[in-house]
Formats: sequence, structure tokens, C-alpha cells
Amino acid sequence: MWKVVILICVSMCHYSTTNNVTANSDRNLLIVNGTVITINERPYQVALNFHYIPFIYADFVCGGVIIGKKWILTAAHCLDKAKVVRAGTSCSTWWGKMFNMKETYVHPNYTRVPLRNDVAILELDEDIEYSDEIQPIEMMTGLEKIPDNEDDYEIVVSGYGLPSFKSKEEDCGLKKIVVKTISRDECKQHYKTLLDNQICAINKTSSTCQGDSGGPLTMTAWDNGKIKLFLMGISSFGDDCKVNEPMVFSYIPSFLGWIKYITKL
Ligand SMILES: *[C@@H]1O[C@H](CO)[C@@H](O)[C@H](O)[C@H]1NC(C)=O
Ligand SMILES: *[C@@H]1O[C@H](CO)[C@@H](O)[C@H](O)[C@H]1NC(C)=O
Ligand SMILES: *[C@@H]1O[C@H](CO)[C@@H](O)[C@H](O)[C@H]1NC(C)=O
Ligand SMILES: *[C@@H]1O[C@H](CO)[C@@H](O)[C@H](O)[C@H]1NC(C)=O
Repeated sequence: MWKVVILICVSMCHYSTTNNVTANSDRNLLIVNGTVITINERPYQVALNFHYIPFIYADFVCGGVIIGKKWILTAAHCLDKAKVVRAGTSCSTWWGKMFNMKETYVHPNYTRVPLRNDVAILELDEDIEYSDEIQPIEMMTGLEKIPDNEDDYEIVVSGYGLPSFKSKEEDCGLKKIVVKTISRDECKQHYKTLLDNQICAINKTSSTCQGDSGGPLTMTAWDNGKIKLFLMGISSFGDDCKVNEPMVFSYIPSFLGWIKYITKL
């Protein structure tokens, strides 16, 4: 299946400089060295597919996140190819429930080179029915109280992406990695064009990879006396799936005003 994706990529990916941040699909992220999970663990994760033919295989493009009954967040650069949303599935190309898009809203300041404001909102043409496999996640405001106990504080990224750079391996499964965020200054040493509305995370042995773009970065924080998950970022790009290199995310609190203006959530 990846052959198709890779062929599309060869004809569409024009940007490949090492230090310049680009929307090269080669940098659309999948997870290297992640832990395989089922959708029940991250029911707000969705897959974006290239087309929809009932009961027939549909190519996978990107990840996305459910934030409301008819609202999905993803990366703006995913909209080149993404046509339908597949929710409630542990496999990016089969099962789950498909939704058509009624409208797409790309961030007005989105740029491809360098890749900035890489956020888009998808409005579905019907309401999502929530279940154990399909749930929304609350967006982080930036005012949350972070748990003092380190064991309670966890930042996780998930996706259906490739297990290695330009991999041809067929693997539709959902994976996650636990990551640590790093300072913007440290990240700027890798990606010079970074803005304040981008946040970076790293893991020594794992990385996001092609196909992970648009998916959720989550963090734990206090909410009414309980520790709960919040959406902290949307996967944007990385450095060719290399482990121990920063992965870059659009930082949700910076985009909250625009997202609420569009969705009225
Ligand atoms: C980044 O892009 C600029 C403008 O396109 C170019 O002049 C520069 O050489 C690029 N830098 C690298 C490291 O590729
Ligand atoms: C886009 O950028 C302009 C200029 O910096 C800014 O005034 C505007 O608020 C931005 N739009 C959004 C939706 O953030
Ligand atoms: C990196 O990922 C590995 C494997 O998923 C995990 O065991 C480890 O705790 C992670 N490291 C950090 C710093 O989050
Ligand atoms: C995956 O993780 C293992 C152990 O954590 C490490 O030895 C290996 O190098 C990692 N794979 C890659 C591609 O980095």
C-alpha cells in the first residue's frame, strides 16, 4: 500500500533541503520505534484517507484529532491529498467509520516554506456519534496546572505513520511514543525558522515519521481535582524520521482563538 503513497510523494515532494523547514511529504510524520496501541487508548485520533470507496481499501494520508461533534484538527499540509476522515480505527486503511468533509479551513497564515501555522480545521458533513473508540479531546489553553509528581506528567504523540523513513513495509497500525518537550531555543538550533507557536519534543530512541502529520501531541494536567489529557499540539514535521532529533508541532494554545472563532466550540 505504501508504494502508492510513495509514488505520489515522488511526484509531489519538491522540497528537500536539510535545515530549511518545508512541507516535503518526506517529512510528513509515521512513528519509528513506537508502542502499538488500539484506538481505545487514544479515541480522539483519526486517520485521513485519500478517497472513499465503501468496503475497498483506501490509501492513508495523515492523522487528525477529534475536537468536537463535527470538527477535526489536522496539519494544513495534509489537505493536499486528504479527502475523507476515518474515525474509531486501530488501522489507518480499514475499519472504523468514514466521514466526508463539508468544509475545510486552512489557517490564514499557513506557509509551506518554511512550514508555519500548519493547522487546518475540517468540518464534517454529519455529527460524530461518540463511543469507546471515538471521543473528542479537550484543547489545552496554556493555563493548566501541570502535575508536580513526575510520574503523573506524560507527553505522548501518536500516529499510523511509517516505521522508518521511506519504508515500504505494510503496517497500518496505530502507535504512540512518550516524548519530552525541549525549549524553543534548543529546537531553533535544528530548525532556524521556528516561531513561538511551534513546540518541539524529542525521544532518544523513537520518532514520528511519514504519515504522522496532523496527529495529536497530548499532555496530562489537573482538571477539577483529577489528572486528565489535553491536546497540546498537532504533528507538523521532523527530520526524516531520525530518532533523537526534535519533532515539531503546532502549539494548540497559540491557535485556540482562531479554532474557537471557526468552530464556536
Ligand atoms: C534555506 O532556504 C534559503 C532560501 O530558499 C536558501 O537560501 C538557503 O540556502 C537554505 N538553507 C539550507 C540550509 O538549505
Ligand atoms: C495572521 O498574521 C497577521 C499578521 O501577523 C495577524 O495580525 C493575524 O492575527 C494572524 N491571523 C491569525 C488567524 O492568527
Ligand atoms: C522514548 O521512547 C521509549 C520507547 O517508547 C520510552 O521507553 C522512553 O521512556 C521514551 N523517552 C522519553 C524521554 O520519553
Ligand atoms: C529502537 O529502540 C531500541 C531500544 O530502545 C534501539 O536500540 C534502536 O536503535 C531504536 N531504533 C532506531 C531506529 O533508532
